[in-house]
Amino acid sequence: MKVAIVGATGLVGSVMVKVLEERTFRVTEFFPVASKRSVGRDVSFRGRTYKVIGMDEAIAAKPNIVLFSAGSATSMEWAHKFAGIGAVVIDNSSAWRMHPDIKLVIPEINANQIRKKDRIIANPNCSTIQMLVPLYPLYKKYGINRIVVSTYQAVTGTGMKAVEQLMNERKNIKSETVYPFPIDLNIIPHIGDFNEEGYTKEEVKMIEETKKIFDDKKIKVTATCVRIPVVGGHSESVNVELKKDFKIEDVRRILADTKGIVLQDDFRNNKYPMPIYVQGKDDVFVGRLRRDNSQPKSLNFWTSADNLRKGAATNAVQIAEYMVAKKLV
Ligand code: A2P
Repeated sequence: MKVAIVGATGLVGSVMVKVLEERTFRVTEFFPVASKRSVGRDVSFRGRTYKVIGMDEAIAAKPNIVLFSAGSATSMEWAHKFAGIGAVVIDNSSAWRMHPDIKLVIPEINANQIRKKDRIIANPNCSTIQMLVPLYPLYKKYGINRIVVSTYQAVTGTGMKAVEQLMNERKNIKSETVYPFPIDLNIIPHIGDFNEEGYTKEEVKMIEETKKIFDDKKIKVTATCVRIPVVGGHSESVNVELKKDFKIEDVRRILADTKGIVLQDDFRNNKYPMPIYVQGKDDVFVGRLRRDNSQPKSLNFWTSADNLRKGAATNAVQIAEYMVAKKLV
């Protein structure tokens, strides 16, 4: 496979390079791609150094697979150009996620919907991915009426400048800020722009993407998305009302047996997921599993995952792996 990574110098793109490097994915030619500013810079991959190329050169190289993480505007402008030369584009931006003709894929859930004609595949939002990986096996077994989620999101979700803001505040250094408020010693209940109703874009993404990925317009979802002073690793408190009643031991067993999930659920021994321990890992970590005694058929859990990996790069690489395995590339 000839693989290009658009945005290879960025936060998610560089993790895509790393994830691709770690896996057994066969790469015959590799092209790191970024904006004109970065052309000529070195990117190392599997022990070799590659020069960053620009978009036109990347198109001319005729890659088979292009992983995109260069922002929505770049995806809007370029995804179809790559698709037009026969490449498969797996796009991490929000540009194509809600487009009716474009599949929004979490491999554990709905990769089987991908067809040969699908040349642009959208990677869901990081918070959606880590919520739906544990919810899907419960959705299949019990059905879901309603999901109430609150997120605790790391600053790497905003980008490198946000990490710098947090670190500079911690050292009392005055510098450029990306958040309108201090993030160190604070939390900001505001991720993305507000709509007229007072929901943020991130919250709307979680709601809409869940309906699309589960292909279930009736599923009820409400979300509150919050930025916290953690560098990497998003966490979520999830409350879910199932359609059928359950035994908590059965739920525990189902989650423990699901590929892509690590169950860390032993409150007696203070065992539960936390962001610093999930960094660099590809799985979604789940714990604090308990019945919600305030209403029937409901349960609570807590999840942490590396937002740059399963929330972005790993999910994209897994889509590519699936498509290669199924001869869709
Ligand atoms: P560059 O490093 O040259 O600016 P992040 O997600 O960390 O903000 O990174 C965004 C990534 O997308 C970077 O690799 C950036 O390249 C790349 N990028 C931004 N704009 C473009 C563009 N117009 N064409 C190609 N790559 C782009």
